Amino acid sequence: MKQEAKVSPLKNFVAGGVGGTCLLLVGHPLDTVKVILQTQPRASALYSGVYDCFCHIVVRQGIAGLYRGMGAPLACVAPMMAISFLSFGLGKRLQQSDPETTLSHSQIFLSGCLAGTFTTVVVAPGERIKCLLQVQSRSGESRYAGPLDCAFKLYKDRGIHGVYRGTVLTLIRDVPSTGLYFLTYEYLKGALTPVGQSVSQLSTPNILLAGGAAGILNWTVALPPDVLKSNFQTAADGRYGGLWDVLRTLLREEGPKGLYKGFSAVLLRAFPANAACFLGFEVALKALDMAAPRW
Ligand SMILES: *[C@@H]1O[C@H](CO)[C@@H](O)[C@H](O)[C@H]1NC(C)=O
Repeated sequence: MKQEAKVSPLKNFVAGGVGGTCLLLVGHPLDTVKVILQTQPRASALYSGVYDCFCHIVVRQGIAGLYRGMGAPLACVAPMMAISFLSFGLGKRLQQSDPETTLSHSQIFLSGCLAGTFTTVVVAPGERIKCLLQVQSRSGESRYAGPLDCAFKLYKDRGIHGVYRGTVLTLIRDVPSTGLYFLTYEYLKGALTPVGQSVSQLSTPNILLAGGAAGILNWTVALPPDVLKSNFQTAADGRYGGLWDVLRTLLREEGPKGLYKGFSAVLLRAFPANAACFLGFEVALKALDMAAPRW
C-alpha cells in the first residue's frame, strides 16, 4: 500500500492559488461570453450564440476583450480559497464528534453550503466589478479603467451598498450550488475508486472526470440566479425595483428559457477550466516540493 504523503497546509494553499489562477486564465474568456449573452437585451440582441459572440469580441477588441474584468476574480482567488477551505472544514467539524468519523452525504452538502455562504463576502463585490467591466465595452464607453477604478467609483457614488449590489442573488446562486459541487465531487471520486483501493489513489483522468461533472451540475443549479445576478449587477441605477423585479422582467420578456442564458458557455468551460485548475495545482505542488522539500 502506498504511503500517504502529508502535504503541508502552506504548500497546499499556494498550489491552490496557482490552480485557481490557471482556472481563470482558461475559463475567463467563456465567462465573458456568458455574461455578455446573459445581459444582452432581447429586443436588440447582437449575438446569436457563444461562437458568434466569441468571434465578435476577438475581431473588435482582440484577445484582451475576452480577458476584461479578470483582475477582480484574480484578486479574490487567495481570500476565497482560504475562506472556502476553512469554512468547509468548519462545517464538517461541527457535524462530527471526532475528526475520524466519515460524514454522510447530507453533511458534506451542508458543509459546502457553509463554504458558499462565507465566500460571498469576497465573491459578491468581485462579481459586481467583474460583470461591469465585462459588459462595459458593449456600449462603446469606458467608464471604468480597471477593477480598482471601478471599486472606487462604485464606493464614491453609492457607498458600500454600491460595491455589494447583488449580494442576495450571489447567496442564492452559491449556497446550494457549492453544497452540490462538493457533494457530487466527493461522491463521484468514491464511486470511481476501484473496490479495495483508497480514494487518494484515484487516477488523474478520473479526478478530472469527477471535477468536470461536478462543475456542470454545480452550474445547472446556479445558472438561473446567475442570469438574474448578471442583469441586476450591470443594470443602470434604478432600472430594477428589486430582485423580484429582475425575475419578473426576465420572465415577461423571454419566458422561462431566459433563465438558462449562457448555459452553452458554461458547459464548454467546465472541463478545460477544471483540468487547468487541477494541472496547475499538481505542477505547483511538485515545484514547491522540489524547491522546499523540508517545509
Ligand atoms: C460553481 O458555481 C459557482 C456559481 O454558483 C461558480 O462561481 C463556481 O466557479 C462553480 N465552481 C465550479 C468548480 O465550477
